[in-house]
Amino acid sequence: MSRIMSRKGQLLILLSFSIGCLYLQSNLQQIPQCICGGCHKNDPWFSTRFNTSYHPLMTSNTSVVSAETFQWWKRMQNTRSGWKDYKRVVDKIFQTIPDKEMHRDAGPERCRVCSVVGNSGNLINSHYGPMIDDGDFVFRINRGPTKGFEQDVGSRTTHRVIYPESAVDMGNSTHMVFFAFKLADLKWLVSLFTTHTIKQQNKVVKITTKANMSLVMVVSPGFMKYVHHQWLNKHGRYPSTGFMTVIMAFHICDKVRVYGFGADKDGNWNHYFERIRPAYKTGIHGGTFEYVTLKELQKRNKLELYE
Ligand code: C5P
Repeated sequence: MSRIMSRKGQLLILLSFSIGCLYLQSNLQQIPQCICGGCHKNDPWFSTRFNTSYHPLMTSNTSVVSAETFQWWKRMQNTRSGWKDYKRVVDKIFQTIPDKEMHRDAGPERCRVCSVVGNSGNLINSHYGPMIDDGDFVFRINRGPTKGFEQDVGSRTTHRVIYPESAVDMGNSTHMVFFAFKLADLKWLVSLFTTHTIKQQNKVVKITTKANMSLVMVVSPGFMKYVHHQWLNKHGRYPSTGFMTVIMAFHICDKVRVYGFGADKDGNWNHYFERIRPAYKTGIHGGTFEYVTLKELQKRNKLELYE
């Protein structure tokens, strides 16, 4: 009898514990998250997409991706190269650039404001320059220049996001944020800081690009797949460099301000610094879905979108 009673007692304790946990959880969801002077209620739409277990930047440890991720990454390119080639090149990369993940210093004290600057023509006559420069980090993408456009786009560049075909020279204090869409891109990076003899590219790429080797950051293929699947629901063949930079900013910044995103009135991805002929309709990227997602993030107070 006493045995039965004790089982009942145990059950009661377990039940009340579970109810207590449920109550606590529902209340925790009501507690606003306060970062950088702004308090936002927890947002299920955001939490189903944002996942801190995905690290944007690669180290030799985090370069080991799952077979599924590797297959996804391989589908972006025309290569027969397998896992062994990938691993061999990645190992070479980390013999060249620092094998440490930068900017993983989140905490209640940190309030890092980031400006992410896309290349949209909507920056023309925006006068956003001073605001952009005010960010702790200023991310610029591909060729996006500052010289001659300072009033609208600012002049500081703490991070320049590139892949080989879009590479430009950068200042000695600028981080190169490197996106590899194919194995040849990783080989290009090795060559850039060693022999300068890369020959494998399909398109013409620069053999040399001025950049500080100790500030290079390589974006991991796993992170790119996470953005494509979790944020874009697989829209487009793969995400645009700009959209991936915005999501990366969520992982390393506390406040994200986005400038220079959005097509022109005909749905073309125009540039503030040049006329694109023929016009470019967002290509292989899910441009419209990316833009709608940015608008949703703005609506939910997760970023500030300046158009
Ligand atoms: O054209 P480019 O790829 O160099 O532009 C950088 C990024 O800016 C793109 O990857 C895209 O995310 C964004 N962009 C945009 N609207 C434009 C031009 C570019 O959203 N009109």
